[in-house]
Amino acid sequence: MRTDTGRTIHLADYRPTDFVLERVDLTFELDPTETKVEARLIFHRREGADLNAPLVLDGDELNMTGLLFDQIEMAPERYTETADSLTIRDLPESVPFEITVTTLINPEANTQLMGLYRSNGIYCTQCEAEGFRRITFFPDRPDVLAVYTVNIIADKDANPLLLSNGNFLGGAGYGPGKHFAAWFDPHPKPSYLFALVAGDLGVVEDTFVTMSEREVALKIYVEHGKEARAAYAMDALKRSMKWDEEVFGREYDLDIFMIVAVSDFNMGAMENKGLNIFNDKYVLADPETATDQDYANIEAIIAHEYFHNWTGNRITCRDWFQLCLKEGLTVYRDHEFSADQRSRAVKRIAEVRHLRSEQFPEDAGPLAHPVRPTKFREINNFYTTTVYEKGSEVTRMIATILGRDGFKKGMDLYFERHDGEAATVEDFVKSFEDANGRDLTQFSLWYHQAGTPQITVSSTYDAGAKTLSLSLEQMVPATPGQTAKEPMHIPLKFALIGENGSEASPAAVSGGEVTGDVLHLTERSQTFVFTGIGARPVVSLNRSFSAPVTLHFAQSKEDLAHIARHDSDLFARWQAITDLALPNLMAAAKAAAAGKAIECDAGLSDALLAIAADETLEAAFRAQALALPSESDIARELGSNNDPDAIYKGRQAILSAIATAGADTFRSLYDSLASGGSFTPDAASAGRRALRNAALGFLALSDKSPAGAAQAFAKADNMTDLAQALTVLAHRFPEAPETHAALAAFESRFASNALVLDKWFAIQATIPGEGSLERVMRLMQNPHFAASNPNRVRSLIGTFAFANATGFNRPDGKAYHFFAEEILAIDKRNPQLAARLLTALRSWRLLEPVRAEQAREALMTIERAAPQLSSDVADIVERILK
Ligand code: ARG
Ligand code: ZN
Repeated sequence: MRTDTGRTIHLADYRPTDFVLERVDLTFELDPTETKVEARLIFHRREGADLNAPLVLDGDELNMTGLLFDQIEMAPERYTETADSLTIRDLPESVPFEITVTTLINPEANTQLMGLYRSNGIYCTQCEAEGFRRITFFPDRPDVLAVYTVNIIADKDANPLLLSNGNFLGGAGYGPGKHFAAWFDPHPKPSYLFALVAGDLGVVEDTFVTMSEREVALKIYVEHGKEARAAYAMDALKRSMKWDEEVFGREYDLDIFMIVAVSDFNMGAMENKGLNIFNDKYVLADPETATDQDYANIEAIIAHEYFHNWTGNRITCRDWFQLCLKEGLTVYRDHEFSADQRSRAVKRIAEVRHLRSEQFPEDAGPLAHPVRPTKFREINNFYTTTVYEKGSEVTRMIATILGRDGFKKGMDLYFERHDGEAATVEDFVKSFEDANGRDLTQFSLWYHQAGTPQITVSSTYDAGAKTLSLSLEQMVPATPGQTAKEPMHIPLKFALIGENGSEASPAAVSGGEVTGDVLHLTERSQTFVFTGIGARPVVSLNRSFSAPVTLHFAQSKEDLAHIARHDSDLFARWQAITDLALPNLMAAAKAAAAGKAIECDAGLSDALLAIAADETLEAAFRAQALALPSESDIARELGSNNDPDAIYKGRQAILSAIATAGADTFRSLYDSLASGGSFTPDAASAGRRALRNAALGFLALSDKSPAGAAQAFAKADNMTDLAQALTVLAHRFPEAPETHAALAAFESRFASNALVLDKWFAIQATIPGEGSLERVMRLMQNPHFAASNPNRVRSLIGTFAFANATGFNRPDGKAYHFFAEEILAIDKRNPQLAARLLTALRSWRLLEPVRAEQAREALMTIERAAPQLSSDVADIVERILK
């Protein structure tokens, strides 16, 4: 386990290294339990650096067996080795010198999956953020860029494949039964982008011809027998490469691009130079085993990692505080890619749903931090939705403020200025400022101030003067370490919608900057006055969700219905439907809590059913409208004193009322959308499946018997429909014989497919209500449950904690205590996984007092284990409890 120094790292303490690393030569002699790593590192002292400064290298769980200075054994008095560092003194003032470190590491015992480890017999690496120091002593920080040569020696039979970054130099036999391969990466890179893979894998091959007519070999490596399931990933890769050329002018820069899929992986995937390593969940797909959501995720993540080649690798981060420089920007790029490949509006709705359900609670709770943090204790805990998703929203706002061309000019300047460098957020912002002659100082607060801005809006129309006044007041809530906030620059897209959906164009506007359809809120409170408005318009504000804020705008039901019907911005239409539904769902939750009758506004079901049946709208949009705000959306709106049972009960009652009112609509949707032909994963077909499955869910709510859902299960000819039918059965009729039969059939049919079994576990982990905890505990005894596989742990324990509000938050606190025990057990093998799961408790203070107290006690049992905790879990539990 990583030693927890308890030390906090501050951005303000950043300074460059005293030594420049010129070259890295690595030789690996692979062995499952005793891999020998020889690292030859050539350094010189940086000009102007202190002449007495020692060289300090990072290390973690290393067994050093040799240390040479310019090829000669180093005298013991010249160096000091500690648990996490190697310090070398008396080094030359200016001439380059060579340090050769030999270490022994144990890939088989590496259960935390950082550094070099083995997954299903495959050697692989994960070095971001600080994993390289688990391979050898090294200046393991992103501003140390060097050119690497890598030699790999291994048993030939077990490891026919030997891969590393860059271009293949050559290979040959190497003594009895062994062989070696050499790789050279000409692009200077930080250690976190290093990768090595060895083992026996199948491959799918293709080629891509770049914009300057260079041919690039594309290879996706998967377990033997799974090659056919990599076809969609390959297609997504080629589309990504083309898109980055067309939209950002970025061309690939090596002769070969490789992706390796492994089954044990802490995160989604990793952008190692020329050799991306993926969680196989985000590579493997076919209609029988993958859902439409899986296909969409694969497309997005393949693109994301590929796009990192420019935003992350060619231009990397100076230090880990700048993480959003590569992640926020790259998420923005993958969002734009998916929007171009699919339906932009539907993609935007899904992004906002995700942002609101994951990032908003983070930003409103004890783990809130700025997009660019200024301190951390454990960097692994900062791969957050704030850095990624809010970071992407900040990039999107730059594009909104500068417009398409201005954004492009800024990006081009950024690439031109910083290619080959380790840059900062300031460098990034300055590129946009300089390319556009626009001051973004106030805008930059988005990087520094945590918390979701709350904007209170009111509007008044003066018929006599023909003016519309729009008053806005912004407030950024206090967050840990930040009590007072400055007003932000918030770009709000808007439209003034007239009677038949026509958009009014004002003669003039005063009170602040308005450019085209963007209103720039920059003051704490500001009133915009639009003149020349002939009739009272309906204000549609924050269209396309141009800013990641919460609006408090008391619009009438009639106005919301008007937007829902007429807005040319589909996102705004969806938002209006959501705003119509939320008060109803909140009232239902309150009624349920008080034991009162729950009523569904007929206006709401009428509006929803009209959308459901409206064939001029794309099916995926209609499915999004029917999905209604989630339990966590309702909890967030209610604010505090939450009772998850009441929220669930209230929401179910509303859904049932809609199901009853719309029985005919749902029946005819379900029948008419039946897929006739063969499966294709494109967005339009996926949208039809989503709408049909939404209809199935409503039908089951009115059904007294599971027959309909059981029939849907029996007839399903693709995983999207099959998983949905199983979910409907399990949630609606958890104890029916049909449900047990379906679960058993699913389990035995997919017994050898880990990714599909994950779905089987996850579906059962989300069954709401009283028996949930016992069910989850029983499933942990299932022979298919594997504590060593992060996907499996996430699918059962993670899904239970994050996505089963009633089961997890049972009032007696038993599920919290079970969870705490599991976190402690997981922490012993895989701290990163444990810490990530633990964030499921981050909103405990918003629960009603009985549950909150139980949650607090469970958190305290974790905290009390302190000396045994990893820095990852210690950091999270302390911040959550503070
Ligand atoms: N850079 C990876 C990505 O594409 C994520 C790596 C996260 N690694 C970690 N140790 N937290 O988003
Ligand atoms: Zn990334």
